[in-house]
Amino acid sequence: MTRNEKLTSWVNDMAALCGPDRIHWCDGSREEYDALCDLMVRQGTFIRLDESLRPNSYLCRSHPADTARTEDRTFICSRSQEDAGPNNNWHEPESMKAKLRELFRGCMRGRTMYVIPFSMGPIGSPISHIGVELTDSPYVVCNMRIMTRMGTAVLDALGNGEFVPCIHSVGAPLAPGQQDVPWPCNADNKYIVHFPEERAIWSFGSGYGGNALLGKKCFALRIASCMARDEGWMAEHMLILGLTSPAGKKIYIAAAFPSACGKTNLAMLAPTIPGWKAECVGDDIAWMKFGPDGRLHAINPESGFFGVAPGTSMQSNANAMLSLRKNSIFTNVAMTAEGDVWWEGMTDAPPAGLTSWLGEPWTPDAGKKAAHPNARFTAPTAQCPVVDPAWEDPRGVPISAIIFGGRRPTTIPLVFQSFNWQHGTFLGSIQSSETTAAQAGAVGVVRRDPMAMLPFCGYHMGDYLAHWLSMSHRTSPDKLPKIFYVNWFRKSDDHRWLWPGFAENSRVLKWVFERVEGGGEAVETPIGWLPAPGAIDTRGLDLDPADMSELLRVDAAAWLKEAPGIAEHYDKLGARLPHALRDELKILENRLRGA
Ligand code: GTP
Ligand code: SPV
Ligand code: MN
Repeated sequence: MTRNEKLTSWVNDMAALCGPDRIHWCDGSREEYDALCDLMVRQGTFIRLDESLRPNSYLCRSHPADTARTEDRTFICSRSQEDAGPNNNWHEPESMKAKLRELFRGCMRGRTMYVIPFSMGPIGSPISHIGVELTDSPYVVCNMRIMTRMGTAVLDALGNGEFVPCIHSVGAPLAPGQQDVPWPCNADNKYIVHFPEERAIWSFGSGYGGNALLGKKCFALRIASCMARDEGWMAEHMLILGLTSPAGKKIYIAAAFPSACGKTNLAMLAPTIPGWKAECVGDDIAWMKFGPDGRLHAINPESGFFGVAPGTSMQSNANAMLSLRKNSIFTNVAMTAEGDVWWEGMTDAPPAGLTSWLGEPWTPDAGKKAAHPNARFTAPTAQCPVVDPAWEDPRGVPISAIIFGGRRPTTIPLVFQSFNWQHGTFLGSIQSSETTAAQAGAVGVVRRDPMAMLPFCGYHMGDYLAHWLSMSHRTSPDKLPKIFYVNWFRKSDDHRWLWPGFAENSRVLKWVFERVEGGGEAVETPIGWLPAPGAIDTRGLDLDPADMSELLRVDAAAWLKEAPGIAEHYDKLGARLPHALRDELKILENRLRGA
């Protein structure tokens, strides 16, 4: 237990409001985890997978109306609407709090309230922060045990200190004697609410992913981005990887791609070029603070992967497949007749006798997918075969390069480098991608998603971009990471991928490495530095030279066509958009016209 009075009185208040039958303080032990898994097996929430095929692992099927983050039900309740910005749904905090108190009143009846003390980042690191999640979902407890450091050790580290209070309910109270369902939720009444000044999170009605595992997007990005703004650091939607050259020189790279655009894949890639080594620090979130050396040092605040299952295979991402061999939770994947998991893209042909994510018998002519497109695995980072030796270093790892990217079938080249930090911030600010199944809503629509933070920035995007620019005043320019932009998703006119992607992206990382180290041939273009012809190492790759030159072509006309859309995007951000970025857009247009 704890002597932290703020914590005990908050837990008591919330228990009085929510009316659970029991309160359980999570200790984070293996015994507790096993007991909760057994409970969920008995309740029909979990199916234990075959012990010899997938040891200590479970399958879970969510309610079909609760399968992804719901951005239209996500709110930032800052005191002033202007502070939330055009990028967020704002609601006035007092009336929202009143609304939430009504929703939460009695919402845990018939259920247990679990108290989850968790640390985002290694316990005790100066870059880490502590939160406490109250939830009535044992599914959330088990996922949080994989995704965060959780339990008694965190309470000990917390002592009398500050924590971010996070309250979550599936919003489905049980009447006495009422039979529970496998995935309780309140699909028509979801509220994912953040109070940035108070640094508090209230989430109601959804049990899925970022809506319910509140350490992840709600805390580590939306609330932490506000903390970072106030305290001079960065909370970003970025993977972190270490890259070692054949000569033994190592750098760390962070990369921001929107949801389901390749972070997990890049984070654990196995380089195809001889002598190069890549190691994984994190696959989704980076917290970066300036170290005593004046450089940005990053930690992965999480301790697990909540990764997209479809498309993950021994060919596309062997290290992910090996990470989830055991001790993992699978949500909305298909199940094989032998009691193992399957999803589209795991093998060329589906095995016979599958059960779909909806629990129905499935054959290839079913006319729908066996696994949900946003089906996910939850697996411990420590199980990744290429986990970086420094992944739990409390000081973080020094970042030498930042990469932006997204899904763009046209226009954006395979890779280019910004001229400087301000120009790099400009490139991040105009980042764009086709939407994916990671969020509810239309798929394949191009949207501007600055720094892949559009759904995750807890304050005004204009202020956020100003915060990015301000990093260059906080240290000397040579200590800042170099900024790059990539696009693995170019397509030909006949809809072929122009670039093989996945492990072959190591060839692009090699050029990034060389640029950081002062080598790597580049040519100046209107949009930035592009690899000189032949500077990307394509040895051993069966790539049509015509495709390669298309991948590295700057299509000035296509870029100029983008300019009005960028100006419109900037107009939406309004007066708080830093002038320097509008200037960069003008300079870009002028350079393109002169090209
Ligand atoms: P979140 O967990 O939602 O933040 O997603 P993420 O950014 O980690 O994306 P992830 O690595 O899980 O990839 C999402 C999808 O993109 C998967 O279906 C991958 O197969 C596909 N993908 C990843 N890298 C590449 C690539 O280099 N080329 C192509 N064509 N597809 C890729
Ligand atoms: C994302 O959508 O970017 C994710 C999955 O990483 S979730 O945790 O559900 O937000
Ligand atoms: Mn993500």
